[in-house]
Amino acid sequence: MFGSACVKVSLANYHTFGLQVYAARLLFPQNEAEVPTLAEQATYVIGEGSNILPTGNLPALLTTRGLLGFQILRESHTEVEVEVAAGENWDGWVRYALHRGWYGLENLAAIPGSVGAAAVQNIGAYGVELAPFLVSVYGWHKERKAWLTLPAEACALGYRTSIFQTPEWRDQFIITRLRLRLQRRFVPVLDYPDVAARINPKKQHDPWHLYQTVRRIRSEKLPNKGNAGSFFKNPLLGQTELARLRQKAPDVPAFPYGAESYKVPAAWLIDKLGLKGYRIGGAMVHPRQPLVLVNTGTATPQDVLALATYIQARVQEAWGIQLEPEVRLLHP
Ligand code: EPU
Repeated sequence: MFGSACVKVSLANYHTFGLQVYAARLLFPQNEAEVPTLAEQATYVIGEGSNILPTGNLPALLTTRGLLGFQILRESHTEVEVEVAAGENWDGWVRYALHRGWYGLENLAAIPGSVGAAAVQNIGAYGVELAPFLVSVYGWHKERKAWLTLPAEACALGYRTSIFQTPEWRDQFIITRLRLRLQRRFVPVLDYPDVAARINPKKQHDPWHLYQTVRRIRSEKLPNKGNAGSFFKNPLLGQTELARLRQKAPDVPAFPYGAESYKVPAAWLIDKLGLKGYRIGGAMVHPRQPLVLVNTGTATPQDVLALATYIQARVQEAWGIQLEPEVRLLHP
């Protein structure tokens, strides 16, 4: 891609759901200096488009995927602090860190998307989240017309959420770099049942073995095209809400999250309703991971939306729980 803006662009290569949709313009800064001017013209800001559902043809989009590179800021015997450009591919970065002997991100292997998006969502998988590794976020604020550094404490990171999803920041703040603190000593996190079951005890001190194990688990469950990962968030319930759900579903799994919440697998709530493989038009509930909605090849945005709405209605009716989308819906 040359130049900084294209007119009426197919989003085939710019989002992972594989829908036939277009953007009125695609703004593509190649370096930070181009961000302020191009941001002015953009309605939405995306990374690699791996967590979005365009619900039709879209107005102007800015993608940060042209912002590449990294810089070591501080290194000691125990840790390293690095600043990574937002457009770097997340998994590529995780692998690079492992090569350098910078540890902590192994369980976040193979998560689709860019480094910048990792902070927007506080990505998490297999018992690890981005949050403890994030030092700060740097970017351009359109309305304030300023480059800002937000320390991690100011980013309000929670379960798949951050300040960058609030109206004041979303599409207003273009993240261009993350500062991360990684460890020189490898301490494997093996709590997640799928990981514990698959890890070879003889190799549990080998970071690449953990990385590859997570990769394998993911690839068995998550198709790498025609979807945007988990479509819904796992509901977080308080003690009372969980007790109420357990009256209807005594065997529902629940995992403590923070001091007062329990994370209940939405996949379980959907699975129990027999919806694996359920289709509307070209959209389908993934047969192995019902939290993932897939485009079988011919889905329209309306098919995916209708399927999502149907699942929400069935879950609400059966379990009294409102599922919230985890993917971001982008409207025309
Ligand atoms: N389950 C079923 N039936 C199934 C699959 C799962 O009942 O067919 C139940 C089981 O009880 C299982 C539980 O759901 O133990 C959890 O399933 P899984 O380990 O596949 O994880 P998940 O909760 O569905 C979350 C994240 C994923 C992340 C995995 C692994 C969210 C919204 N999703 O999925 O993240 O990779 O855990 O940590 O938190 C994403 O955000 O896009 C994403 C893929």
